[in-house]
Amino acid sequence: MKSIERLLLENKAWAQEKLEQDPNFLDHLRQDRKCKVFWIGCSDSRVHADEITNSEPGEILVHRNTGNQVSHSDFNLLGALEYAVNILEVEHVIVCGHYRCKGVRAAMNKPNPNLFFANKWLKNIKDVYRLHRREIDAEESEEGRWGRLVEVNVIEQAHNLAHSAIIQKSWIKSRLPLIHGWIYGLHDGIIKELITLTPEMQLDPLYQYDLE
Ligand code: CO
Repeated sequence: MKSIERLLLENKAWAQEKLEQDPNFLDHLRQDRKCKVFWIGCSDSRVHADEITNSEPGEILVHRNTGNQVSHSDFNLLGALEYAVNILEVEHVIVCGHYRCKGVRAAMNKPNPNLFFANKWLKNIKDVYRLHRREIDAEESEEGRWGRLVEVNVIEQAHNLAHSAIIQKSWIKSRLPLIHGWIYGLHDGIIKELITLTPEMQLDPLYQYDLE
């Protein structure tokens, strides 16, 4: 059987199984719940927000891209962030990276001449590397440098959120959302907290909007 056919068959089996476990499953699914968490994660097929946090449908609004980046020129992300913060009024925005991230790994090397757009997307992570080069290169092994770049990338993306007018306006209005930088370990399945940014943080004036 072709794998694409298997996906559709598995979907039917899944829906049937869910209904057998809970006859009200579809009623729950149809309920329009205001979720309180917005997740920005990597597209990696091994890192599913719902699965690794044991969350139910309706609990987490998810946006994923290669290297869990927060780019101020990415209208896909900014649109989702705006909706999450202004309409859903989420209490938490999580940037979750993961160790052994292939996007981060690619950014540590020369651009691949066959990947025109991917190179452009990874440019921001190369900038993160350049910004923290001394600290990352102090790691003795390639594995260590890779892991440290994964970590500082999450920290930088969390700051990119705090540098947005969407977050700064919301912080003045409601003191929410809190911004969390997390790392997921593919070796142990555990999420590690790296950083939490709150409205009390000292914003660099370079990035501070005059909103009051
Ligand atoms: Co990744």
